[in-house]
Amino acid sequence: MPIIAPSLLSADFLNLHKDCAMLNESKADWFHLDVMDGSFVPNISFGLPVIEHIRKATTKICDVHLMIVEPEKYAEAFKKAGADILTVHYEACTHLHRNLQQIKSLGMRTGVALNPHTPVHLLADVLQNIDLVCLMSVNPGFGGQQFIPQTLEKIRTLKKMILEKNLHTHIEIDGGVTLDNAKSTLDAGADVLVAGNTVFRSNDPIATIAALKAL
Ligand code: DX5
Ligand code: ZN
Repeated sequence: MPIIAPSLLSADFLNLHKDCAMLNESKADWFHLDVMDGSFVPNISFGLPVIEHIRKATTKICDVHLMIVEPEKYAEAFKKAGADILTVHYEACTHLHRNLQQIKSLGMRTGVALNPHTPVHLLADVLQNIDLVCLMSVNPGFGGQQFIPQTLEKIRTLKKMILEKNLHTHIEIDGGVTLDNAKSTLDAGADVLVAGNTVFRSNDPIATIAALKAL
């Protein structure tokens, strides 16, 4: 069964407590938390204080997706705020291996996100240090965008690399995931589905999460 990670970005920011309670009740596995700095991506979302409060309200694994430059400056602070998984962008890390060592040594699971234009083979020499590869299926920065179809081929190639190396790295798909296209990503080899608009704009988010989980 896929891991379902609803994204806070599409939640009701005036009623986060209500959305946390809804998620706690649902079959969601992780809570996907998108941090944007207005520099790596052309948008600013939320940061440490919000995550600190989410941590207190959620029973789910906190899957923090950093869309920021110089993530090494904040890794410890995100651990303290409650991150279980810390994902940094390949494109934002000059010393990716060092960043992954830092995240591991702080006691978090390591994640690396790839923008749509970044080939998966660039991870070949560092894959054994990664718990989660987040394949961006939209250009990062905004919720509610259209899924980029080339992602399916990237999933297949990455899955092959993971199996060839006998690893258990999770493949997470982030952006434009819907009830219509999610199955094709799972068939290609994805393990984790991030869903913002699909969950929070649905009339019945709990049922939508259950439907994604049942795919
Ligand atoms: C985009 C974020 C996504 C976003 C997905 O930069 O990384 O996690 O919340 O939202 P949807 O599912 O609406 O495309
Ligand atoms: Zn994300």
